[in-house]
Amino acid sequence: MEFALWGAMALVISAALSSAASLGNVSRFDELFQMNWAADHMDYDGGLVKLKLDSSSGAGFASKKKYIYGKATVEIKLVGGDSAGTVTAFYMSSDGDKHNEFDFEFLGNTTGEPYLVQTNIYVEGVGNREQRMDLWFDPTTDFHYYSILWNPRQVVFLIDETPIRVFENKEKKGIAFPGYQAMGVYNSLWNADDWATQGGRVKTNWSHAPFVVTYRELKVDGCEVSVEASINDEVRRCGGSEWGKEGRYWWNSPAMEELNVHQIHQLMWVKAKHLIYDYCSDFARFPTAPPECVR
Ligand SMILES: *[C@@H]1O[C@H](CO)[C@@H](O)[C@H](O)[C@H]1NC(C)=O
Ligand SMILES: *[C@@H]1O[C@H](CO)[C@@H](O)[C@H](O)[C@H]1NC(C)=O
Ligand SMILES: *[C@@H]1O[C@H](CO)[C@@H](O)[C@H](O)[C@H]1NC(C)=O
Repeated sequence: MEFALWGAMALVISAALSSAASLGNVSRFDELFQMNWAADHMDYDGGLVKLKLDSSSGAGFASKKKYIYGKATVEIKLVGGDSAGTVTAFYMSSDGDKHNEFDFEFLGNTTGEPYLVQTNIYVEGVGNREQRMDLWFDPTTDFHYYSILWNPRQVVFLIDETPIRVFENKEKKGIAFPGYQAMGVYNSLWNADDWATQGGRVKTNWSHAPFVVTYRELKVDGCEVSVEASINDEVRRCGGSEWGKEGRYWWNSPAMEELNVHQIHQLMWVKAKHLIYDYCSDFARFPTAPPECVR
């Protein structure tokens, strides 16, 4: 009786939350996000969102809510022309010194030279899981979709729905997996010319400022975490298979628990053609393979 009542209430709450969490249009930017760095370095007129970097500041925005599991997607056109020294970041992160984090970092370059995409994963405060790749398109001439899918079984980085990286849950083998912490969704543009471009050799040329990155669509389908509830209850609620079965938390559904055959082939293609650096195969840095790596 008590359980049934709780279940019914949870259903109502979830319906309300999932409609608020879903956004397919930057014109509703304010509902989902807020500036968390240099609001005077962003443009938003109800249409596109633009972040600007000049010698005084970069800029960034963050989701108003935190989530446990979900899929965040941003449609970005990166800084065109000379973007050397700049980094555009799209990431999910929890708070605290044992935080989890999933990073997309787009490393700018001199005019005509290719952007690199660096991804990284922090689990319980520890990162050092970098991968770098180049792209099969010019990310500065058009908008493209970049997504992070996170559920109890895997974290997947996708570009235009092509998976470029997967971090599987191998907790059964004693390998830590980033669950159990609520995460926000963040976007920013900043100067990182001490390391970003050609190993830090090429510096930001401020005579080309402001550097501008443009967002067209922002979407977070996620299980919003209630600040009143205990985190353990929220992890259970947001990870519960009963929600997936109803199709409500579709990002937890069986089809999302692992890549399908088509996606496995896509990932193999990306790794063969575009992967430039993988920490798993960096023997100099990690003589002993990190536990999640297969060598
Ligand atoms: C975004 O929302 C506006 C206003 O509701 C609408 O006119 C426009 O067609 C929407 N754009 C997309 C891509 O959904
Ligand atoms: C920039 O271009 C150079 C030369 O093509 C390339 O080696 C490098 O990987 C590119 N990307 C970055 C971020 O330095
Ligand atoms: C910076 O850009 C200006 C204008 O395009 C150019 O004249 C100058 O040589 C550039 N500086 C460097 C260090 O490349």
